[in-house]
Amino acid sequence: MLRVAVCVSGGGTNLQAIIDGVREGTIKNTQIVRVISNNPGAYALERAEKAGIAHSCVSPRSFPDRNAFNEAFLAELIDADPDLIVLAGFMVAVPANVVSHFHHRIINIHPALIPSFCGKGYYGLRVHERALARGVKVTGATVHFVDEDLDHGPILLQKAVEIQEGDTPKILQRRVMEQAEWVILPRAISLIAEGRVSIDQDLITHIAPAAYEKN
Ligand code: GAR
Repeated sequence: MLRVAVCVSGGGTNLQAIIDGVREGTIKNTQIVRVISNNPGAYALERAEKAGIAHSCVSPRSFPDRNAFNEAFLAELIDADPDLIVLAGFMVAVPANVVSHFHHRIINIHPALIPSFCGKGYYGLRVHERALARGVKVTGATVHFVDEDLDHGPILLQKAVEIQEGDTPKILQRRVMEQAEWVILPRAISLIAEGRVSIDQDLITHIAPAAYEKN
C-alpha cells in the first residue's frame, strides 16, 4: 500500500477526489494516512474528518518565525511516515528542508498548463484571471513533482481544457477542476502506487504500461 499524506489549505475538492478515488478503487493500492492543513479553518479538514482520516493543522501563525514553522511542518510529515506527499490546493511554498527530505516524493496539482501561468503569485483564482486576461484559448492543469523552485519540478500529467466565450475566472476554475484536476490528480497517485512512474537523468518522467498492457 502506498501511504499518502495530503496537504491542503482550503475547500479541498481535490482532496475529495482523492478520498473518492481510494474508496471506489480507481486509485489503486493507496491509503491516505494524514491530511495536513496550514489553515485551521480549511473545509478540507472537515472532509478528512467525515472520511475518518487522521488530520492536523500546522499553521505558520503558531510559530515565532518561518524556520520554526518549517521544522514543525517537516516533523509532522515525518510522523505521518508517507511514501508520497500530495499538495492538493496547498498554498504554502514547500520549505527546502521538506523538499530535500522527501526528494521526488512530493507531487503538486497546478491549475494551468505549466510552464504557462505558474510561479510566484500564480495560485488559485489568480491563475484563471491571468489566463483570461492573456486571451489564451486553451488552459488546463498539471501534476508535477516538487523541487526547490515553485511549480518547476518534473511534469507527470497534464490535461488541456478549452476556454469558452463568456468565461469568468470562477467559471473557468470550475471547468478546469472538473475536466482536469479531479481526473489527473487521482490518476497520478494511482500510477505512482502501481509503481509505473520513473524520472530519468534529464528529469523527464516516464509512465510504464499497466501490467496487463505489457507484451
Ligand atoms: C485548485 O484549483 C488547485 O489546483 C489550486 O488551488 C485550488 C484548490 O482547490 N492550487 C494552486 O493554485 C497551487 N499553486 P481545492 O482546495 O478545492 O482542491
